[in-house]
Amino acid sequence: MVTLPRLLKTPLLHTLGCELPIMLAGMGGVSRHQLAAAVSNAGGFGVLGMVREPVERIRQEIIAFRQLSDGPLAVNLIPAATDRHLLMDQIATCLSLKVHSFVLFWQVDTALIRFLKKEGRQVIYQVGNQGDADLAQSAGADVLIVQGHEAGGHVRGSTSTFTLLPQIVPNCDIPVVAAGGIASGDALLAAFTLGAQGVSLGTAFLATHEANAHPHHKQRVVRANADDTLYTTRFTRNWHEPAPVRVLANAVTRGEYNNAPRDIILGEQDGQPVYLFSTDSPLADATGKVDDMALYCGQSCGQVHQQCSAAERIDQILNDVNRCLKQQHP
Ligand SMILES: Cc1cc2nc3c(=O)[nH]c(=O)nc-3n(C[C@H](O)[C@H](O)[C@H](O)COP(=O)(O)O)c2cc1C
Repeated sequence: MVTLPRLLKTPLLHTLGCELPIMLAGMGGVSRHQLAAAVSNAGGFGVLGMVREPVERIRQEIIAFRQLSDGPLAVNLIPAATDRHLLMDQIATCLSLKVHSFVLFWQVDTALIRFLKKEGRQVIYQVGNQGDADLAQSAGADVLIVQGHEAGGHVRGSTSTFTLLPQIVPNCDIPVVAAGGIASGDALLAAFTLGAQGVSLGTAFLATHEANAHPHHKQRVVRANADDTLYTTRFTRNWHEPAPVRVLANAVTRGEYNNAPRDIILGEQDGQPVYLFSTDSPLADATGKVDDMALYCGQSCGQVHQQCSAAERIDQILNDVNRCLKQQHP
């Protein structure tokens, strides 16, 4: 394993119980047990992306993770985008399986934070603006993930990571993790310089062997540059409001389906149809018009040049960090 520079040994490591300040982003469908376990086994923090998943899948994923890893694990859920009954069942399943940490996103659900804290669990909230950061902190969150506009997938705020961090960190009593625009050691160091104690990476881990994304999606991410991504509200099906996402350009973002009926089925995955404008990105088993699905991708893709294993991705980032530090202090 690559040596960890002192700068990266932050109090967050103690809070999360991991060796490296690198979290896997809870990517729905993509961050399943193979990827979460690979990140945890490499010293990072594994997160299962379980948004809107049925409880049986959540149960199976947690059990499968534990067969592969003794490392730390969180479950990612999106309260506002999930039917309330399903959400409560998801939480009950996680509690019964003794899941200690939750990564939550989108509108801040203060009642849920308080409930989970009463149950003795750890709450990590991903936020994209000052208001949500203040709300999550005052409700008792343990860690904030500050997501900037550069991020892939659903994008909560309109400010860049590197503008939000120096605004939120000084007013924050809990550790802050940076998300968006980061897939290399150089970018990680920039986030740490601005007060982050860790990073949460989506795109960098999507392009790994263990990610449950479709090979075409991984390939497009590896070939893309930051300016090949788009911020759009075209993918809204299955979501409770017309929320913006960052994706790679495709027939949908070019407007080629503008006059098409909404009920067109583009393909199938996980035994379910994938409809036009769906927020579901193409998973490993997807069939049909995969390129016309939501190809989530952050601007950090410009720092991702090849597919590799999750452990190799982490090694690359740490090697980068050590190289940068040597250049700064020869
Ligand atoms: C394919 C993909 C799916 C995502 N799905 C989720 C999700 O289900 N829940 C969530 O909290 N964030 C999700 N995100 C956003 C990430 O949590 C994170 O903010 C983002 O990946 C950071 O930017 P980066 O992709 O450049 O690393 C997703 C991101 C991507 C790329």
